[in-house]
Amino acid sequence: MPIFLSPDARCCHLQGRRLSMVLCAYKVQDGADELIMPYFGARLEDADVPAALLTSERLASFDTDNATLPFALPTAGRGDFRPAQLCAVGRGGQRTTRLSFLRAEVTPGKPPLAGLPATYVEREDEAQTLSAHLRDEVTGLEATLCYTLFSRHDAIAVSLRVLNAGGAPVKLRACASASINLFGAYDLLHLHGAWGKERQIERVGPMHAERVIRSARGASGHQHNPFCALMEPEATERTGGVYGISLVYSGDFQIAVDEDAYGQTRAVCGLNPETFGWTLLPGESFQTPEAVLAYSDAGLNGMSQIYHALYRTRLCRGYWRDRERPILINNWEATYFRFDHEKILRIARTAAGLGVELFVLDDGWFGERDSDDRSLGDWVVNPRKLPRGLKGLAEDIEALGMRFGLWVEPEMISPNSDLCRAHPDWVLRVPERTATQARNQWILDMSRADVQDYVVEAICAVLKSAPISYVKWDMNRNFAEYGSAALPPERQDEAPHRYMLGVYRVMESITSAFPEVLFESCSGGGGRFDPGMLYYMPQTWTSDDTDAAERLKIQYGTSVVYPASTMGAHVSAVPNHQVGRVTDMKMRGDVAMSGNFGYELDLSQQTPEDLEIIRRQIERVKRIRRVTQQGAFTRLISPFEGNLCAWQFQLEDTVLLFAFVTLQSANPQMRRVKLADIPDGRWRDEETGAEYDASVLTGAGVRLPFIQPGGQPVGDFKSLVMELRRIG
Ligand code: DGJ
Repeated sequence: MPIFLSPDARCCHLQGRRLSMVLCAYKVQDGADELIMPYFGARLEDADVPAALLTSERLASFDTDNATLPFALPTAGRGDFRPAQLCAVGRGGQRTTRLSFLRAEVTPGKPPLAGLPATYVEREDEAQTLSAHLRDEVTGLEATLCYTLFSRHDAIAVSLRVLNAGGAPVKLRACASASINLFGAYDLLHLHGAWGKERQIERVGPMHAERVIRSARGASGHQHNPFCALMEPEATERTGGVYGISLVYSGDFQIAVDEDAYGQTRAVCGLNPETFGWTLLPGESFQTPEAVLAYSDAGLNGMSQIYHALYRTRLCRGYWRDRERPILINNWEATYFRFDHEKILRIARTAAGLGVELFVLDDGWFGERDSDDRSLGDWVVNPRKLPRGLKGLAEDIEALGMRFGLWVEPEMISPNSDLCRAHPDWVLRVPERTATQARNQWILDMSRADVQDYVVEAICAVLKSAPISYVKWDMNRNFAEYGSAALPPERQDEAPHRYMLGVYRVMESITSAFPEVLFESCSGGGGRFDPGMLYYMPQTWTSDDTDAAERLKIQYGTSVVYPASTMGAHVSAVPNHQVGRVTDMKMRGDVAMSGNFGYELDLSQQTPEDLEIIRRQIERVKRIRRVTQQGAFTRLISPFEGNLCAWQFQLEDTVLLFAFVTLQSANPQMRRVKLADIPDGRWRDEETGAEYDASVLTGAGVRLPFIQPGGQPVGDFKSLVMELRRIG
């Protein structure tokens, strides 16, 4: 897995297990050296960079040479015309930046990014890092591009640091994390959505224009995940070349993909330049978030498996990273704001009797919080609802044999709160303009150190006040007008990124003060389901939409980047509160047990038949969760393409097949599902005792039991979970 640097240190080949990236100094038209990326894709076997890669076809055309060169760090205002990674304005006020190549070096391991989430290594031999240094003579800006190649993952983590080594302030107008340049045209696959329907898969063909995915909401958002895949047009789930671009960040971002007139594709990924600006005084530097690039020649699923393995083991951290996650019961949909100590205990008693391991008390336990229009920021228990406090409730729940968890929303402030009356200047807003409310709340100005300190102190006090083992960290609105009373006018455009840096500082402080607490992030469901959050909190509430049929698409789409161990998935009541649909308890459980499993309903109100199904679900989850949380996940049948859906997990000698049917039709097609890449040998279906050779499972496949022997469909919303164990 080495990074090869040529003897003159002008060319570099990052040669992974199955990918290669080439970066070289290149003399542009006026003789200056610049850094180009002539190749990124399938592994090149020669360590030396083939000379053929380094010749550029200069086009006899109207355009400048710069319009066709594959710059590793494309800059604005110099005749490149495609999306730029860096736009800096110096003393002269012009937007031109040109970076000459200075030198490159390779070091073992991977340096951390101060104050930012990032992938990491535990030992130096897990990765090597190439640092390429560049300089703009006019502004004095020095740029360092860092590329870390992992030894066990076909991924390269990229980030950029710029230092103002000149004598005058420089304004960064754009400073993105990574650029890639590819030959050819690519389909773009991305994950779009809205509240309640996050991460839907959309694949669009090439076009001679920019395709842009972005957020300007102060959060990565429900609408676009900070990710895209560039797929060879003929690539499928399991075949063909696929590039992944994933940004380790939770705020405003942009990924711009441009296919030029000469058959080349460039992608630039990083902070959204529309809501970003940063003043660098002489001697100051700016570090971008990290982008993680992946390449697979085994289709989209191959790319997903690269991210799953890397993010599960080298992005998520801490005590819970490799531990089996507890089965929980959350009271939100059971009670909303209407609960007291006794009501909670009644639900908890039934849950404990069924084998649930953790009770999570959701919104409504603090201040005067009887509805969503008050008290955010007042993190003091409501004695009317909980006369014995959180401690009394947690102790009663622990006495039932369960752990206790709690909901908080630390970044928010209600206009009707003691906190807002005491500190009106702590609201993120623009003076002399209305501060728009959403869900009756405002946002705390997390860019301010005093606000960060308040939040750390207030939340730590709550967590110390009772035996709390789990925290659900919510965030229920996005930015409208954003400004900080603590920043001067010329730095107001720094507020969105400073907000995120503040949130990260607070999360780092609180999670490291309570290392054994399991933290789950949430933003109105999955509005901030991104790699940045996963660095601090190893799981995320996937969506507020808990309908089993809708969840198939949401969880399937989420799996394009994120491992199942990061997805919260709960069984809720019917008719479902988001869509009004009725599905049976088995289907709801079978969908949820592909993620971090739990219940979100009043267990004391279920029928005896459903309670028996629940008891068996809990037993099964305890038996299989190591496989769902740590095994290799493979998508088999897409719910976006019809009424069936299937996926599998495999870990050591266990394979789990999950299959679902949504709306049936008369005279349906007969369907089998072929399992994928399972180890050779004989496998037994643990329920029926039937035995199969691996070749039968992958070649002939498994018949889906959604049609009765007479040809009659078994009805809508049915599911199959098959547990296969290798017996020889
Ligand atoms: C939004 C979350 O996604 C829900 O699960 C719940 O916690 C509510 N917020 C509470 O206000």
